[in-house]
Amino acid sequence: MFPEKFLFGTSTAAHQVEGDNRWNDWWYYEEIGKLPYKSGKACNHWGLYREDIELMAQLGYNAYRFSIEWSRLFPEEGKFNEDAFNRYREIIELLLEKGITPNVTLHHFTSPLWFMRKGGFLKEENLKYWEKYVDKAAELLKGVKLVATFNEPMVYVMMGYLTAYWPPFVKSPFKAFKVAANLLKAHAMAYDILHGNFDVGIVKNIPIMLPASNREKDIKAAQKADNLFNWNFLDAIWSGKYKGAFGTYKTPESDVDFIGINYYTASEVRHSWNPLKFFFDAKLADLSERKTDMGWSVYPKGIYEAIAKVSRYGKPMYITENGIATLEDEWRIEFIIQHLQYVHKALNDGFDLRGYFYWSFMDNYEWAEGFRPRFGLVEVDYTTFERRPRKSGYVYGEIAREKKIKDELLAKYGLPEL
Ligand code: BGC
Repeated sequence: MFPEKFLFGTSTAAHQVEGDNRWNDWWYYEEIGKLPYKSGKACNHWGLYREDIELMAQLGYNAYRFSIEWSRLFPEEGKFNEDAFNRYREIIELLLEKGITPNVTLHHFTSPLWFMRKGGFLKEENLKYWEKYVDKAAELLKGVKLVATFNEPMVYVMMGYLTAYWPPFVKSPFKAFKVAANLLKAHAMAYDILHGNFDVGIVKNIPIMLPASNREKDIKAAQKADNLFNWNFLDAIWSGKYKGAFGTYKTPESDVDFIGINYYTASEVRHSWNPLKFFFDAKLADLSERKTDMGWSVYPKGIYEAIAKVSRYGKPMYITENGIATLEDEWRIEFIIQHLQYVHKALNDGFDLRGYFYWSFMDNYEWAEGFRPRFGLVEVDYTTFERRPRKSGYVYGEIAREKKIKDELLAKYGLPEL
């Protein structure tokens, strides 16, 4: 059995589901053709949120993680959109009414275009704009308990400023670590504003970093990658010293009330002589014969490893994302069961884990991959916007309602007990 209060939720992000998010940087780059796919109406969640929340309740999920879109609230500098504020308010109230615990993220990869045109998080003086947004969020989120400042800050940094696959397409390691340091400052600022009225957390992706071989060099390279992308950022929240690749930045000493873990798969790291790659080469690990539609291996044990590692901070934890992109829904069911078995084991072993959010409630706009990968428990027809719950959606709902993975379910999927 899972604890009575354990949250079984699902997760989404504003730009991936709402549609018509035309005031942010992603939309701009989609429009000028720098990104391969346009988000357009996405899932039209902005229009269909009532139906979506109703469906969540029917399916039996007791929590929902979503993000609010800064650029909807402030589409232009100094201009506040009250309609958007009211719509988010309605979403929150509907969730509370249905007994679905909201878990709200303030920044999930997208920023207002006007903010990015001023240099975004690269410029420390721009944090005053972030502060205004957080002030408004404090008003907007009344009644919500769980609020996370940033989603996957190091993914944001890596994709936007190191590999430059994502907006703002800057390829500068120097700038990348500066952005990371400023995100830590922005987190501290938000923590000061929100803590007391909310449990304030941060959501960090924790890929498991495996050495490519037993060679000392590869083992060291994996540790280095692990520190640079997983731990240095989190460590700095308390120490006020952020270790980037080129030195240490002074950041404010702050705190979190919970840590959200996004876990999908593992990376394989080997030593490299290339200083531009910080002397390591990381690629997706090859750990399962079948790969998901993102090309990722399935490695359920990794979720346990991620929880065990993050427990070093002594904070309550949530799995804020875990999911699979596939059209084979039976495989999704197997995936969920296997990961939940490890979540259950983590609970039995005494880790302070409070909930699990499957990514994603419904199929959505998967960033630079467009609409092809299907992560949803609910299928979305992108022409009619019809929602069709998949079998996995019902199976997950049953687990959520009963707080238990039944023996019959394990037997049916030929899965051994852990
Ligand atoms: C992100 C989501 C994304 C998911 C699947 C996470 O890194 O937070 O926005 O859709 O992974 O790729």
